[in-house]
Amino acid sequence: MTTNETMIGRSDVNDVDAILAVTNTDVDAVVHAVRTDADAIFTWDYERSRPALSKLYEKAKTSQWNADDLPWDTEVDQAAVVEANRIQNEGIFGSMDLTGTPVEGWTEDDWTRFHMETQNWTLSQFMHGEQGALICTAQIVETVPWIDAKYYAATQVMDEARHVEVFARYLDEKLSGHYPINAHLKLLLDDIIADNRWDMTYLGMQIMVEGLALASFGFIHQLTTEPLLKQLLRYVMSDEARHVAFGVISLQEFYAQLSAAEIRERQEFAFEAAVRMRDRFLTQEVWERMGVDVKEAVQFTLNAPDRPIFQGMLFSKIVPNCKKLGLLDAADGWLRHRFEDLGVIQFEDWADTTEEYGSLDAVAEDRAAV
Ligand SMILES: [Fe+2]
Ligand SMILES: [Fe+2]
Repeated sequence: MTTNETMIGRSDVNDVDAILAVTNTDVDAVVHAVRTDADAIFTWDYERSRPALSKLYEKAKTSQWNADDLPWDTEVDQAAVVEANRIQNEGIFGSMDLTGTPVEGWTEDDWTRFHMETQNWTLSQFMHGEQGALICTAQIVETVPWIDAKYYAATQVMDEARHVEVFARYLDEKLSGHYPINAHLKLLLDDIIADNRWDMTYLGMQIMVEGLALASFGFIHQLTTEPLLKQLLRYVMSDEARHVAFGVISLQEFYAQLSAAEIRERQEFAFEAAVRMRDRFLTQEVWERMGVDVKEAVQFTLNAPDRPIFQGMLFSKIVPNCKKLGLLDAADGWLRHRFEDLGVIQFEDWADTTEEYGSLDAVAEDRAAV
């Protein structure tokens, strides 16, 4: 599997040493600064000329919800929850012979602890990613030149604040520990924020990061038996579906007037983001906390026969949305070939998010039921 001529700086996408060379060096710092020199754009054209964005904005105004209204008094026994979830779904190691692996000899208690740590890690990364979305959408309010997009992005800023709030509260009140931001996710968010072209903020955040989040929330929503988390994710997903649709609608219009060279740059940016997101799911920080050799554990994770199925699912929203934007097949199918290498091309004809955001509106559904 080679990925020459890409920007990720390694010839083999599965090079474990290169993956582990990316580390988070300021885990103890309270703040993290990213320099950006994007122009803040005023527009004097107040005409509401983009009906698809206008419709999304009206929907966002009526679909706001209050985090305090979730059933926070639900008792959560995390060990019991991860055990119950494991019975339904053993994860990527379920069908593997563990002889000679770093987890050979793990007791039931070790596995329970591992699944609890994985949950702490996963929800921590969701929380940090949500803060990335908060910052990116605030940036879009400033940088996008269209009034309809500024209006919509302003509603998304509020949505993202609520998402950071619910994940932070769930971690504090219901789980058993936090993790700092994963090094690969941090690098990706830094790259998105530092890029001063407004459409790159959209591509990195709305299409790639939020597309992956939407698939990932959907997966956990289906799997979890814990009612508070289920409800929380259902509401977050109904917002996220709008956010991804916002990205697709805006970029479709903008990409129509870009040159072939400019589109090719967007393809590379999308691929680099996809690799960083794949790398973060190797959960190197969890292995470290479990006290096993991280390099061996990451290699073992990469080799798990069921990993492509699980991690592939995370790209089930990204690939059809990239196709809708024309990014798969431009430049002789450059991104199509890269997605073939990553093993995720099979999702290209799944529903794109502009088609499905209405059906994911859980807030409207619950209000109609009342
Ligand atoms: Fe969000
Ligand atoms: Fe979002």
